[in-house]
Amino acid sequence: MAIFNVPLTELQQRRTIKWRRFEPDVLPMFVAEMDAHLAAPVRERLERALAMGDTGYPQLPDYQEAFADFAQWMWGWSIEPKQFKLATDVVTGMREAVLGLTAPGDAVVINPPIYPPFRMVSPDRHLVEVPLGDDGRLDLDGLAEAFARPETTAYLLCSPHNPAGTIHTVDELTEVARLASEHGVAVISDEIHAPLAGSAHTPYLQVPGAANALVVTSASKSWNLAAVKAALVIGEHELLRKLAGTMQDGASYFGILAHSEALSEGRAWLAQAQLEIDANKRLFADLLAARLPQLSHEPSEGTYLAWLDCSALGLENPGAHFHEVGRVRFNLGSEFSPAHQQFVRVNLATSPAIIEEAVDRMARSLDGAPLGRSANG
Ligand SMILES: Cc1ncc(COP(=O)(O)O)c(C=O)c1O
Repeated sequence: MAIFNVPLTELQQRRTIKWRRFEPDVLPMFVAEMDAHLAAPVRERLERALAMGDTGYPQLPDYQEAFADFAQWMWGWSIEPKQFKLATDVVTGMREAVLGLTAPGDAVVINPPIYPPFRMVSPDRHLVEVPLGDDGRLDLDGLAEAFARPETTAYLLCSPHNPAGTIHTVDELTEVARLASEHGVAVISDEIHAPLAGSAHTPYLQVPGAANALVVTSASKSWNLAAVKAALVIGEHELLRKLAGTMQDGASYFGILAHSEALSEGRAWLAQAQLEIDANKRLFADLLAARLPQLSHEPSEGTYLAWLDCSALGLENPGAHFHEVGRVRFNLGSEFSPAHQQFVRVNLATSPAIIEEAVDRMARSLDGAPLGRSANG
């Protein structure tokens, strides 16, 4: 059964940010939520708990065990129970990692354009920006320079990268690990998009030479479970001990149940989601080539998000134009870096019909044709 074929009328009844933030006639393709049917094992697990009134506090290391099993299966990555710590969600885990491993006044390196909370997880820390190259890849020379600064103590890696969708290669990550160890920089790697990227992704802690590093991850992105919060921070026990003891208190029992079930029993769903997302990426690129040939676009590898350069359109603010005139909403490039106002980030975890409608709205917003409400809209 298809995962991304939820009818628009049904999606419009959802009350999440995606479906409630903007005007009802605007097709929402911004925030990283999926327009998906929930994986049946996850739904059944939560329904079972609800039916039993099983709605209290968590106790057992279900999430840790399920992730360890998944990581072994997907990446051949062995993780010991003592290498895990629970967190409320990935952003909280990243923030606690920065607080635990750095001191006020330290410098923390990021790679813009970047998922906006990366700028906010470092209170009292100075951000050093090493932009990705135009090809979306890490600038290793830039990282070497930034790591060499005496005040630099941490690097926030986004792997796979949001918004660029880049999957970092083992060679790139090995060089990051070498530089980090040479300059005593802690690497905090956000791997929330990794399960969906599958075996093409390399967990940072598996990279030769990686040390003094934490991976922060969750099943929430790959199985669309942001509503039921939980996440994991993974690394050497001595490093985890530097993180706040209260950090684990935020993971909810339902989050732990849902994420564990997804990792253990939601693997067929994940494989199907990967297939449909790959087809959606191809469809989007083909539709752009046919309807908006000015926008050359190569699908990203690592996420369900397309990072689209719209500068060829000659618009002052393409994202605002598509919203106001086209009635389709993407994330604005400027959310990820001030230098990327000409970009939009498009969420392709949706149905092919919605992707077709979105490209149609984009094209019609540019050729001045009236934007009637079509069958999908
Ligand atoms: C790279 C990245 N990190 C973290 C998050 C948010 O994760 P959480 O809801 O677990 O805080 C997202 C959400 O899209 C993301 O793309």
